[in-house]
Amino acid sequence: MPDLLIAPRHTAHLDRAVEALRLVHEHDRYPLTWPDDPHAWLTPEGALGAWVALADGVLVGHVMLVDGKLVEHADRLAEAAGVSLTGLAGISRLFVTPAARGTGVASALLERVEDAPTRRGRRLALDVVDDGGPAVRLYERLGWTRVTDGPATWTTPAGTRPHTAAYLSPR
Ligand SMILES: CC(C)(COP(=O)(O)OP(=O)(O)OC[C@H]1O[C@@H](n2cnc3c(N)ncnc32)[C@H](O)[C@@H]1OP(=O)(O)O)[C@@H](O)C(=O)NCCC(=O)NCCS
Repeated sequence: MPDLLIAPRHTAHLDRAVEALRLVHEHDRYPLTWPDDPHAWLTPEGALGAWVALADGVLVGHVMLVDGKLVEHADRLAEAAGVSLTGLAGISRLFVTPAARGTGVASALLERVEDAPTRRGRRLALDVVDDGGPAVRLYERLGWTRVTDGPATWTTPAGTRPHTAAYLSPR
């Protein structure tokens, strides 16, 4: 069992995070379209924090906390949580390299974000492509509540709008 460390992401991790993202994109088409500037994709406006998972020092996972308004269906989520939009924070850019999956790396990353001081008491929310895949299973296994679903506000390269679901954290 490798030694797993969840650490705040530093600039020095970014190149390795992009390499990990490349593996995930090739394996899962996440993100659906490879970004023109992957470094910029991992440093979006509205970021409130970023963490990496290091297994024996190898970067195997990544997650970000972002402004809640960046989550799909944010208004419905805030209403369901009984908070204003500023009372939400979003989980984003969560991925684990294919070889490191199924050992709880994503669960450990999410646990770390839940305890992050930069969360400042905000309710956590996220959106996910509603395909019944590992990501949907992960959130439901961890007790996240599905609030709503519907077509995404973004389009695929083929011009379709995937069905997305929006969730609130258990706490
Ligand atoms: C979704 C994703 C992040 C999950 O990462 P992960 O590290 O494999 O997640 P976990 O290990 O916590 O859970 C995955 C599975 O391993 C199982 N598992 C977790 N810890 C385990 C352990 N210690 N021993 C055995 N199995 C374990 C879980 O039960 C789960 O099984 P299931 O898929 O059959 O429900 C990963 O598949 C991924 O990067 N996908 C592509 C990107 C993506 O979709 N990101 C989400 C965008 S919203």
